[in-house]
Amino acid sequence: MSAQSELTASNRAIVLVAAPTLAAAEQVSAMLAAERDLDVRTQVVIDGHIDPLGDGKSAAHLVIADLGDRGGALLNDWDLRGANTPLIVIGPANDPQTMRRAMQLGARDYLSPPLTSELLVSAIRQVLSERIISHAPGTGGKLTAVITAKGGSGGSFVACNLAHILTVHQQRSVALIDMDLQFGALPLSLDLHSRDTLFDAIAAVDQLDPVALTGYMTKHESGLHVLGAISDQLAIPSEVSVEAVHRLLGLALQTYQHVVVDLPRQIDALTTMVLGAADNVLVVSQQSFSHLRDTKRMFELLQGYVGVPPERISLVVNRYVEKNPITTDDIRAAVRPQNLVLIPNDFVVATEAQNLGVPVYEGARNAPLTRALCAIAERVDAGVAAADAPPRQAERPVKRALQRVLGMR
Ligand SMILES: Nc1ncnc2c1ncn2[C@@H]1O[C@H](COP(=O)(O)OP(=O)(O)O)[C@@H](O)[C@H]1O
Ligand SMILES: [Mg+2]
Repeated sequence: MSAQSELTASNRAIVLVAAPTLAAAEQVSAMLAAERDLDVRTQVVIDGHIDPLGDGKSAAHLVIADLGDRGGALLNDWDLRGANTPLIVIGPANDPQTMRRAMQLGARDYLSPPLTSELLVSAIRQVLSERIISHAPGTGGKLTAVITAKGGSGGSFVACNLAHILTVHQQRSVALIDMDLQFGALPLSLDLHSRDTLFDAIAAVDQLDPVALTGYMTKHESGLHVLGAISDQLAIPSEVSVEAVHRLLGLALQTYQHVVVDLPRQIDALTTMVLGAADNVLVVSQQSFSHLRDTKRMFELLQGYVGVPPERISLVVNRYVEKNPITTDDIRAAVRPQNLVLIPNDFVVATEAQNLGVPVYEGARNAPLTRALCAIAERVDAGVAAADAPPRQAERPVKRALQRVLGMR
């Protein structure tokens, strides 16, 4: 691998295609050739072992096991090391035994020939962005992802103040996680200095339980728990394992009623995973032509590429001024958001909050800007009161397929 591809491999999700022969593996991997954000590798299955660790350095985020024509007989002999790695099985249609075995191996999806590249890509995207399924019954928190449509729009400002309002006004247990791995500075907006960061928590994620997780959080006096991203070491996003962050988020959602994540303005394997798992995605933008253009693009990426359902995405127009020539009608016409929220411009309140590290709910509770943020918090919090609501564990496609084959639905 050249230095150049080593660099650009950065945030790509590693997909390992395992098959009985190299030709079969390459046939599947060729279907993914156009997917530039996937780092597709092949492995010939020898003695029944699939090893997601591959070269021993970078673990696969997803394994695709192609059974070829030997089907179930082969799968019985297969052993997937690293049972945590999501698995998609390609096997014969209408073969309940093989499907059942695939389920036992933890397969998230089961596909049968004839396979199109469209079908395969959509299954991969679904699994990579799969909603977090590790909730303990009835205790699942809500995940809100905040992403800025254009730098400086106020994404971090919204994430930080929303998390604070959910804590003090809605009285929820809330974790605020900074995932802007290179420029994030959330703790400073709250006048906090974090000892442990996201990187420390990720490094320890396999040993963490909810209680241990809270030990990694920096505590704000309001009760809000914050996990910062920036530490003394220089962090390169490519060094962060998407799988580990996925596990960390799952754990945080078991621990807190709300998890608010501040994302960098970037669509990569990490942000795709978070955005796909989020109950609410807030796209923060402002009122200018260039903001509108970037917002439209962000909505296209979120809906078309990441696959976030439109009803989960809200457009937050920050620093809104009524007399601006760009009206809400213009914004609606250009972006077509299902939900549009306006946060008024208030330079004094916002700047003071930022400079002093005091959230607006403390410094200027009755300012229109704060009230607009409270309305967002109420919307995000809707439904959380029902603490005994059923867990939102998604049914696995492979289970659905099996039920179909068995005539159970
Ligand atoms: N409603 C507002 N009115 C005035 N200034 C604001 C408002 N919201 C945010 N700001 C200011 O905009 C600046 C950029 O915000 P930030 O959250 O860092 O942007 P982003 O994360 O989108 O790059 C901050 O200094 C913040 O104080
Ligand atoms: Mg930011």
